[in-house]
Parts: sequence; structure tokens; C-alpha cells
Amino acid sequence: MEQLELLRRQCEGCQRCPLGESRTNLVFGDGNPKAEIMLIGEGPGEQEDLTGIPFVGPAGKLLDQMLEIIDLDREKYYIANIVKCRPPRNRDPQAAEQDACIGYLREQTRLIQPKIIVCLGRIAAMRLIRNDYRITREHGQWVKKGNIWMTAIYHPSALLRDESKRPETFDDLLSIRDKIREVCG
Ligand code: URA
Repeated sequence: MEQLELLRRQCEGCQRCPLGESRTNLVFGDGNPKAEIMLIGEGPGEQEDLTGIPFVGPAGKLLDQMLEIIDLDREKYYIANIVKCRPPRNRDPQAAEQDACIGYLREQTRLIQPKIIVCLGRIAAMRLIRNDYRITREHGQWVKKGNIWMTAIYHPSALLRDESKRPETFDDLLSIRDKIREVCG
């Protein structure tokens, strides 16, 4: 069996943290596992928990529309979250929950071997780029970690709450488009 599918099955039985008990479905990941771009959010919301697919609720719909601007769809990227089970009432995933889950994301990343990772929001950026990452100041900037170019943009839920952040995110999307042209095949 394909390695990513084996990992998914391993995650399906996971009870490493209490979110394993309250989930309806595991939200493992979606998109093209051969893609050179990975997008990482924080954790599933209600619609994701019900369907088992990341970013299908209101934030996901906005994300799809934003990515369409730079001609990206789920055939061209792979999308997952820092935690694979829904935190109750959509609260931020706690450090212990992130710690319990992050090994799965690391293994997913090792199997997919992306050239670019885009963190969606503060939680993913703090976990994957730097633990004191400041999204308001640093969104759209690029850092290279090993062979992977990394950046962060505002979480689409933040853009739903505060439309004034959208022009900055538009600039960040153009920068992502340029980086894809620069480093992807
Ligand atoms: N927000 C996230 O961070 N991830 C999802 O999958 C959905 C909403």
C-alpha cells in the first residue's frame, strides 16, 4: 500500500490526545500528494469534522476563491492542518494537542517533499516557522528551512472577520505565485 495511505490509516486509530475522542472524522489531508506546494492550516472546523476534508467550510470557500486568483486548485497543492481532529468549539489547538499530532504532519511532509509550504494563519506559522512569529508583521515574508521555502498568510477565517486585511493578502498571493514560478517545475 502507498505510504501516505498507510499513514492515514495509522492516524485513523489515533488516540494520542483527547481530540481523538471527540472527533467525528479524522481530517488527514486533501489535494495532490505529488504537488510541490503544501498549505497548512491550524485544525479542522465543524464542516471539516463532518466531512473529513480540510477547508470545506466558509473559510475554505474563501481560500479556494483566493487561490483561484493565482490559478491554484487542489490538483496543484496538498492541504492539511497542524492537528487532524477538531478542537471543541473551534478553539485554538493546545500545545499538547499540537505536540501529539505534529509527528504525523512531519511524516506527511517527508513523503510529499514540497518545495514550498504556505502556513495559513498564526498557529501554523508559530509551529512551523518560528514560535514567536508575528503574523501581522511578517506575513508574506519568505524563509528557507532546509530545502523548503516557507511563508505565512492570514488565515482565511481572519479575512472573513476583517476584510481590511484582504489587500495585503492579495500581495502575498502574488508573491506566492512568483515563488512558484521561481522554484517549482
Ligand atoms: N480552519 C483550519 O485551520 N483548517 C481547516 O481545515 C478548516 C478551517
